[in-house]
Amino acid sequence: MLRGSRSEIPMHGRLEGRALDQLFRTARTHVAWIVRSSAGRELLAGCASGSNRRKILAAPVTVIIGYDLDFSTTLPKLFPAKATVMRALFEDAELARVTAFRNSSLQGAYLILAARALGLDCAPMSGFDNSAVDRTFFNATNVKSNFICSIGYGSAQNLSPRNPRLEFEQANHFA
Ligand SMILES: Cc1cc2nc3c(=O)[nH]c(=O)nc-3n(C[C@H](O)[C@H](O)[C@H](O)COP(=O)(O)O)c2cc1C
Repeated sequence: MLRGSRSEIPMHGRLEGRALDQLFRTARTHVAWIVRSSAGRELLAGCASGSNRRKILAAPVTVIIGYDLDFSTTLPKLFPAKATVMRALFEDAELARVTAFRNSSLQGAYLILAARALGLDCAPMSGFDNSAVDRTFFNATNVKSNFICSIGYGSAQNLSPRNPRLEFEQANHFA
Protein backbone atom coordinates (compact mmCIF):
# COMPACT_ATOMS: atom_id res chain seq x y z
CA MET A 1 0.00 0.00 0.00
CA LEU A 2 2.75 2.44 0.93
CA ARG A 3 5.21 3.61 -1.65
CA GLY A 4 8.88 3.48 -0.82
CA SER A 5 10.69 6.58 0.33
CA ARG A 6 14.06 7.05 -1.28
CA SER A 7 16.22 9.89 -0.15
CA GLU A 8 18.00 9.84 -3.52
CA ILE A 9 14.76 10.52 -5.38
CA PRO A 10 14.81 13.92 -7.04
CA MET A 11 11.49 15.53 -6.18
CA HIS A 12 9.63 17.63 -8.67
CA GLY A 13 6.26 19.21 -9.39
CA ARG A 14 4.01 21.27 -7.15
CA LEU A 15 2.02 19.94 -4.25
CA GLU A 16 -1.61 20.88 -4.63
CA GLY A 17 -3.37 22.82 -1.91
CA ARG A 18 -5.60 19.80 -1.21
CA ALA A 19 -2.60 17.56 -0.46
CA LEU A 20 -1.07 20.21 1.81
CA ASP A 21 -4.43 20.65 3.55
CA GLN A 22 -4.71 16.96 4.22
CA LEU A 23 -1.12 16.64 5.42
CA PHE A 24 -0.84 19.68 7.62
CA ARG A 25 -4.33 20.85 8.52
CA THR A 26 -6.85 18.01 8.41
CA ALA A 27 -4.28 15.51 9.68
CA ARG A 28 -3.44 17.99 12.43
CA THR A 29 0.32 17.88 12.36
CA HIS A 30 1.22 21.23 13.79
CA VAL A 31 4.86 20.74 14.67
CA ALA A 32 6.29 21.66 11.34
CA TRP A 33 7.52 24.62 9.36
CA ILE A 34 6.87 24.13 5.66
CA VAL A 35 9.55 25.60 3.43
CA ARG A 36 8.27 26.06 -0.10
CA SER A 37 9.22 29.51 -1.44
CA SER A 38 12.37 29.73 -3.57
CA ALA A 39 13.94 32.04 -0.98
CA GLY A 40 13.06 29.65 1.85
CA ARG A 41 14.45 26.66 -0.02
CA GLU A 42 17.71 28.54 -0.74
CA LEU A 43 18.02 29.43 2.94
CA LEU A 44 17.37 25.88 4.08
CA ALA A 45 19.66 24.37 1.43
CA GLY A 46 22.40 26.71 2.68
CA CYS A 47 22.16 25.03 6.10
CA ALA A 48 22.30 21.49 4.66
CA SER A 49 25.25 19.28 3.92
CA GLY A 50 26.44 17.64 0.69
CA SER A 51 23.82 16.11 -1.57
CA ASN A 52 21.01 17.15 0.77
CA ARG A 53 21.26 20.65 -0.74
CA ARG A 54 20.14 19.62 -4.19
CA LYS A 55 17.33 17.48 -2.76
CA ILE A 56 15.95 20.50 -0.89
CA LEU A 57 16.24 22.75 -3.94
CA ALA A 58 14.52 20.19 -6.17
CA ALA A 59 11.65 19.32 -3.81
CA PRO A 60 8.37 21.29 -3.92
CA VAL A 61 8.32 21.42 -0.11
CA THR A 62 10.68 20.52 2.70
CA VAL A 63 9.29 20.30 6.20
CA ILE A 64 11.33 21.24 9.26
CA ILE A 65 10.08 19.01 12.05
CA GLY A 66 10.76 20.91 15.24
CA TYR A 67 9.99 20.77 18.95
CA ASP A 68 9.05 23.62 21.25
CA LEU A 69 10.92 23.54 24.55
CA ASP A 70 8.19 25.81 25.92
CA PHE A 71 5.42 23.37 24.94
CA SER A 72 4.15 23.20 28.52
CA THR A 73 2.78 26.76 28.19
CA THR A 74 0.17 25.32 25.79
CA LEU A 75 -1.02 22.66 28.26
CA PRO A 76 -3.90 24.75 29.70
CA LYS A 77 -5.39 24.72 26.19
CA LEU A 78 -4.29 21.26 25.04
CA PHE A 79 -4.58 19.26 28.26
CA PRO A 80 -6.85 21.30 30.56
CA ALA A 81 -7.63 18.42 32.93
CA LYS A 82 -4.03 18.08 34.11
CA ALA A 83 -2.39 21.32 33.01
CA THR A 84 -1.25 22.48 36.45
CA VAL A 85 0.31 19.16 37.46
CA MET A 86 1.94 18.63 34.07
CA ARG A 87 3.34 22.15 33.89
CA ALA A 88 5.00 21.64 37.26
CA LEU A 89 6.44 18.35 35.99
CA PHE A 90 7.94 19.97 32.92
CA GLU A 91 9.73 22.63 34.93
CA ASP A 92 12.45 19.97 34.85
CA ALA A 93 14.19 21.21 31.68
CA GLU A 94 15.76 17.86 30.79
CA LEU A 95 12.42 16.04 31.12
CA ALA A 96 10.79 18.72 28.97
CA ARG A 97 13.54 18.37 26.34
CA VAL A 98 13.43 14.57 26.01
CA THR A 99 9.62 14.62 26.01
CA ALA A 100 9.46 17.30 23.31
CA PHE A 101 12.11 15.53 21.23
CA ARG A 102 10.34 12.16 21.51
CA ASN A 103 6.98 13.63 20.55
CA SER A 104 8.35 15.60 17.61
CA SER A 105 10.08 12.45 16.31
CA LEU A 106 6.75 10.62 16.47
CA GLN A 107 4.96 13.50 14.77
CA GLY A 108 7.58 13.48 12.01
CA ALA A 109 7.14 9.74 11.52
CA TYR A 110 3.34 10.14 11.38
CA LEU A 111 3.82 12.87 8.79
CA ILE A 112 5.90 10.49 6.65
CA LEU A 113 3.28 7.73 6.95
CA ALA A 114 0.48 10.14 6.06
CA ALA A 115 2.43 11.48 3.07
CA ARG A 116 3.20 7.97 1.80
CA ALA A 117 -0.44 6.94 2.26
CA LEU A 118 -1.34 9.88 -0.01
CA GLY A 119 1.04 8.49 -2.64
CA LEU A 120 3.80 11.02 -2.00
CA ASP A 121 7.50 10.25 -1.58
CA CYS A 122 9.52 11.40 1.43
CA ALA A 123 13.21 12.09 1.93
CA PRO A 124 13.96 12.50 5.65
CA MET A 125 17.34 14.12 6.37
CA SER A 126 19.38 14.83 9.45
CA GLY A 127 22.42 16.04 7.50
CA PHE A 128 22.12 19.77 8.23
CA ASP A 129 23.38 22.32 10.74
CA ASN A 130 20.66 22.38 13.42
CA SER A 131 21.93 25.60 15.01
CA ALA A 132 21.91 27.39 11.66
CA VAL A 133 18.36 26.20 10.89
CA ASP A 134 17.19 27.26 14.35
CA ARG A 135 18.77 30.70 13.94
CA THR A 136 17.34 31.13 10.45
CA PHE A 137 13.81 29.79 10.94
CA PHE A 138 13.09 29.74 14.68
CA ASN A 139 14.85 32.91 15.81
CA ALA A 140 13.43 34.43 19.01
CA THR A 141 11.55 31.22 19.84
CA ASN A 142 12.42 28.17 21.88
CA VAL A 143 11.66 25.85 18.94
CA LYS A 144 14.51 23.53 17.94
CA SER A 145 14.85 21.56 14.73
CA ASN A 146 14.74 17.75 14.91
CA PHE A 147 14.95 16.60 11.29
CA ILE A 148 13.87 17.82 7.90
CA CYS A 149 11.88 15.96 5.27
CA SER A 150 11.42 16.74 1.60
CA ILE A 151 8.03 15.69 0.25
CA GLY A 152 6.97 15.38 -3.37
CA TYR A 153 6.49 13.02 -6.25
CA GLY A 154 9.78 11.18 -6.68
CA SER A 155 11.35 10.06 -9.93
CA ALA A 156 12.93 6.61 -10.23
CA GLN A 157 15.72 8.08 -12.36
CA ASN A 158 19.18 7.53 -10.80
CA LEU A 159 17.58 5.62 -7.95
CA SER A 160 20.16 3.37 -6.29
CA PRO A 161 19.12 -0.05 -4.94
CA ARG A 162 17.67 -0.21 -1.44
CA ASN A 163 20.36 -0.79 1.20
CA PRO A 164 20.51 -4.16 3.00
CA ARG A 165 18.37 -4.63 6.10
CA LEU A 166 19.16 -6.56 9.31
CA GLU A 167 17.40 -9.90 9.74
CA PHE A 168 14.44 -9.87 12.13
CA GLU A 169 16.43 -11.90 14.71
CA GLN A 170 19.36 -9.46 14.54
CA ALA A 171 17.20 -6.41 15.11
CA ASN A 172 14.71 -7.79 17.65
CA HIS A 173 14.81 -9.71 20.91
CA PHE A 174 11.93 -11.37 22.73
CA ALA A 175 11.95 -10.75 26.48
C1 LIG B 1 15.72 10.74 10.50
C2 LIG B 1 16.45 10.38 9.22
C3 LIG B 1 17.48 11.17 8.77
C4 LIG B 1 18.14 10.89 7.57
N1 LIG B 1 19.10 11.73 7.12
C5 LIG B 1 19.59 11.58 5.87
C6 LIG B 1 20.43 12.56 5.27
O1 LIG B 1 20.79 13.57 5.88
N2 LIG B 1 20.86 12.36 4.00
C7 LIG B 1 20.47 11.25 3.29
O2 LIG B 1 20.88 11.13 2.14
N3 LIG B 1 19.69 10.30 3.82
C8 LIG B 1 19.22 10.44 5.09
N4 LIG B 1 18.37 9.50 5.64
C9 LIG B 1 18.07 8.28 4.92
C10 LIG B 1 17.04 8.44 3.83
O3 LIG B 1 16.22 9.54 3.91
C11 LIG B 1 16.18 7.20 3.66
O4 LIG B 1 15.47 6.95 4.81
C12 LIG B 1 17.03 6.01 3.30
O5 LIG B 1 17.64 6.25 2.09
C13 LIG B 1 16.19 4.73 3.26
O6 LIG B 1 15.19 4.85 2.34
P1 LIG B 1 14.12 3.70 2.08
O7 LIG B 1 12.84 4.17 2.71
O8 LIG B 1 14.02 3.58 0.62
O9 LIG B 1 14.62 2.46 2.72
C14 LIG B 1 17.75 9.75 6.84
C15 LIG B 1 16.72 8.93 7.32
C16 LIG B 1 16.08 9.22 8.49
C17 LIG B 1 14.96 8.31 8.95
